[in-house]
Amino acid sequence: MSTKMETERLLDKDRRFLWHPYTQMKDYEDRDFLFVDHADGVYLFDSMGRRYYDTISSWWCILHGHNHPIIKSYIKGQLDRLEQVHFAGTTHEGAIRLAEKLVSITPEPLTRVFYSDNGSTACEVAIKMSVQYWKQTGHEGKERFIALERGYHGDTIGTMSLGGVPAFKGPFDRLTFDSFRLPTPYCYRCPCGIETSSPVCESRDDLPFFGPPRAPGCALECLKPLERLLAGRAEDIAALILEPLLMGAGGMIVYPVEYLQGIASLCRYYGVHLILDEVATGFGRTGRMFALEHAGICPDFLCISKGLTGGYLPMSATMTTEEVFKAFYGDYNEGKTFFHGHTFTANPLAVASALASFRVFEEERSLEGLPSKVEALQSGMRDLARFESVGDVRGIGMVASLELVADKGSKKPFPSEKRMGFQVYLEGLKHGLILRPLGDVIYLFLPLCVSIEQISDILSRCKATFEGLGL
Ligand SMILES: Cc1ncc(COP(=O)(O)O)c(C=O)c1O
Repeated sequence: MSTKMETERLLDKDRRFLWHPYTQMKDYEDRDFLFVDHADGVYLFDSMGRRYYDTISSWWCILHGHNHPIIKSYIKGQLDRLEQVHFAGTTHEGAIRLAEKLVSITPEPLTRVFYSDNGSTACEVAIKMSVQYWKQTGHEGKERFIALERGYHGDTIGTMSLGGVPAFKGPFDRLTFDSFRLPTPYCYRCPCGIETSSPVCESRDDLPFFGPPRAPGCALECLKPLERLLAGRAEDIAALILEPLLMGAGGMIVYPVEYLQGIASLCRYYGVHLILDEVATGFGRTGRMFALEHAGICPDFLCISKGLTGGYLPMSATMTTEEVFKAFYGDYNEGKTFFHGHTFTANPLAVASALASFRVFEEERSLEGLPSKVEALQSGMRDLARFESVGDVRGIGMVASLELVADKGSKKPFPSEKRMGFQVYLEGLKHGLILRPLGDVIYLFLPLCVSIEQISDILSRCKATFEGLGL
């Protein structure tokens, strides 16, 4: 552990040399970044030995906790064998074993795995494969995309073009390509004006993992624009992309499973690819290995990352069908090759970490242990709805969120200058919590290994945080 003086010196250098992601650096002119020294399980420790709950799984990727002996031993073992090799014209044991594993745990039609190294590239690959597929199967004009207004798929130009969070993409509007937009199935602020009582999220028998029920009177009117669009323009459209059931960066919005099923069947009917971005929802977060399982659907492309390696090393994959794969298969001079790749594609250390994560899933029976944790998290979070400023509570699996509002009755948001979310973040630190609100949406995105006692402690600390701010 660093001494106090050493830490201060390093923090000073941080201010001089670094530029942190998604951060207004001026916010840290007079306050320090949290100096994380080490981590264990669900905790992060600062250089003074203070302990904090990692309630956002270190940006939604840590699954089995920090410092896990099995994952560390796999990575260390791999380091003595092969640390990196390019993946064109070469292969290695781990990459093959991992692909076989991924194919075995996803819906049957997904038979091919294309590796890359982060969530944005996993989606970028799907976008490119879809366009090239249509060109190589005689559908030249199919090159446009449909995406959700508040969707998020990454920070590359391609994925920003499909993302809908205005603050993230505003300055780049002219660089991004146009896509068709669907209203967000944001039940608390229903785009079709259906009134929901709050909180919308209640347990239901047919969905053991708390997908929100449709509000009385909801006939999924928000799917109508898609139906109209596809009926008129399917010839121009390559694919629709969305995050299944849980829209992360757009505000931890959870939508009804029937909406996802409706999207899948419309895409299938009108011959448009479905790209499911499970970068955040994959690997148990929603209570099942993949969110698509709640809906019983299969996409043409499945994008996975974050939890793939248990969260220890960067890696991602785009999975697709044999039908798509075959459209790229032919003699070299036919020009059907998919010319895309990244230096660290299938990096052997990351692959070892992913294989280790699957071993932990088996040894710790991580998925089997989830129902009681999910119940503790979701019901505990619903209890927080009694705070005056909590407008909505929503959640699925190990993810739960609440939306702070200035006025519960009218759902009026706090003025943005108040920066309520940021205040909650700062107050949370005092209570041993690392929260990272999205605007005024406060959420818990917990590692699967968290215990029921820890969930209850986290919720008590959230309560103390809200009380501290007089919410
Ligand atoms: C749904 C989703 N897709 C894509 C991404 C981009 O992943 P990355 O940050 O690894 O590029 C994220 C990141 O949060 C995400 O939540």
